[in-house]
Amino acid sequence: MPDRFDLPAGFRWGVATAAYQIEGAVDEDGRGPSVWDTFCARPGAVRDGHTGAVACDHYHRWPEDIALMKDLGLDGYRFSLAWPRVQPTGTGPANPAGLAFYDRLVDALLAAGITPLPTLFHWDLPQALEDRGGWLNRDTAHRFADYAALAADRLGDRVPAWITLNEPFVHTVFGYALGIHAPGRALMFEALPAAHHQLLAHGLAATLLHDRGLDVLLSNNLTPVHPATPTPADLAAAHAYDTLHNRLFTDPVLLGRYPDLTPLGVPDDIYGAVHPGDLDLIHTPGLDGLGVNFYNPTRVAAPTDPALPFDLVDIPDVPHTTFGWPVVPEALTTLLLHLRDTYGTALPPLTITENGCSTPEPLDDPARITYLATHLDALATATTQGIDVRGYYTWSLLDNFEWAEGYHQRFGLVHVDFETQRRTPRASYAWYRRLIVAHRAPHAR
Ligand code: BGC
Repeated sequence: MPDRFDLPAGFRWGVATAAYQIEGAVDEDGRGPSVWDTFCARPGAVRDGHTGAVACDHYHRWPEDIALMKDLGLDGYRFSLAWPRVQPTGTGPANPAGLAFYDRLVDALLAAGITPLPTLFHWDLPQALEDRGGWLNRDTAHRFADYAALAADRLGDRVPAWITLNEPFVHTVFGYALGIHAPGRALMFEALPAAHHQLLAHGLAATLLHDRGLDVLLSNNLTPVHPATPTPADLAAAHAYDTLHNRLFTDPVLLGRYPDLTPLGVPDDIYGAVHPGDLDLIHTPGLDGLGVNFYNPTRVAAPTDPALPFDLVDIPDVPHTTFGWPVVPEALTTLLLHLRDTYGTALPPLTITENGCSTPEPLDDPARITYLATHLDALATATTQGIDVRGYYTWSLLDNFEWAEGYHQRFGLVHVDFETQRRTPRASYAWYRRLIVAHRAPHAR
């Protein structure tokens, strides 16, 4: 595998994690329950009844984890703050012990030469807010802004850039439309107000982060969408899916408008959730960077169930990860070029805030090295065509709690034995470290 790609000078190397997937310590130091604690307790919700109660025990083992990151030679670490650690019920004053944890983490990262890149919301909503409707309740957007202010006021002197939300598409569709993630609501398209309220939360928080001189990013799960065949029915289905997965979340932020939602059978005011002035609140703050989480492209066919606008179908004749996801690296080039074609000068600089794959358990993980190398090659191809990509954060540092799959899908550069919490770097960890060293050497671009 190559250990050097044609990437711009100053390109930043990182890894990404999320609070509920690694921290554990769900009852400690005043943390309140989150929707994921509740969801995990629901029989059958998570494979084999796994929960994030202990996860990687990162809440106690963070010094060891930062040592692993320092040894990798990272520029940046993307992690998330657990909202219910900072505000146990999602409202009111900050829990001092919760903020103190992130304060220590930030100081230790900086001491290791690593720039912290926190995400404010990676799906672990305080349960008390869910009890009031969660993201279906417009008020949650205002509560999020209060929480963002508490976090920024404490850490903003040392943390230059913030990601407001992680993947509002996945949270809306898996959490509120299909019910396969917390909070486990299966509302189908009536879930879409949850999307709008997350975007509103982003806009409100972005304004106050900018007021404090901080940079703002938003991370979305983006996918190039291909029709299964060139028939008009498959093309229409692909257009509908692209509207839901990509444009519903990116157009309001970058262009200040929702896409035409009629292909989904949804009114453009998203069931009355969009109030006058909302799109300005979402769009006007602007973005200092768009976070792209990329895993795979999507192939779409006309629906077999007439109640739905599309069917998702497999991509044949390509490798698949242990999760069953198709591996199509050149789709990352396609995606990045498509973003530029779609948004032009409205597109801010990009950062790949997640990319990676699950592999079988062993420490030797050639499939991960191949996945990362081929995607970095695809990324370099896009940058040589003028796409401004500033950095790459691999998902993930550690094997961790993979949501509804529990501990069954392993995404880590570092293997975790969940019985002993022993961390053991995989072959991909050594490869990533060599890659970072190679890119630090002076080179042309
Ligand atoms: C999420 C991560 C998740 C990863 C792999 C992304 O959609 O942001 O939390 O672990 O994909 O499924």
